[in-house]
Amino acid sequence: MNKDEIYEKCYNEIMGRVKGKEIVEKMRIVCEVMKKNIPYYFWVGFYIPREEYLELGPSMGPPACARIAYTGVCGTAYRRKETIVVPDVDKFPGHIVCDPRSKSEISAPVFNSRGEVIAVFDVDSDQLGSFDEKDKVWVEKILREVFTEL
Ligand code: SME
Repeated sequence: MNKDEIYEKCYNEIMGRVKGKEIVEKMRIVCEVMKKNIPYYFWVGFYIPREEYLELGPSMGPPACARIAYTGVCGTAYRRKETIVVPDVDKFPGHIVCDPRSKSEISAPVFNSRGEVIAVFDVDSDQLGSFDEKDKVWVEKILREVFTEL
């Protein structure tokens, strides 16, 4: 299966399961479905903005940092309110290492219907250069339809 086919499968399963669920339960479903179906998703999870740091929400994969500063990839996605694709985490100034096996990353803000960022969706791959424009488009579509367009 190519990326479009894999993401479409995820999209259909997620949309079939999130209806009427609370936000945290929706986050759990998104993590579970994407981790299960996308082979290069080494770690997937949500970080929730708090005053001084981002706090780990639902996630799937090896243990990750429970709290991260706003200076890393996730914090940058939060502050810029845009998706960040990082082909090589060692080349991103400020990247926060939670697991040394992570090599590339995509991080996307999650908006509510008022346009506020309520979380950051983050994925790590243990290969370099796993994420591209296709991942960005699909991740943004899934996040928008699950969390923004209620
Ligand atoms: N690398 C992220 C930290 C979170 S983990 O990848 C799970 C960052 O720089 O913000």
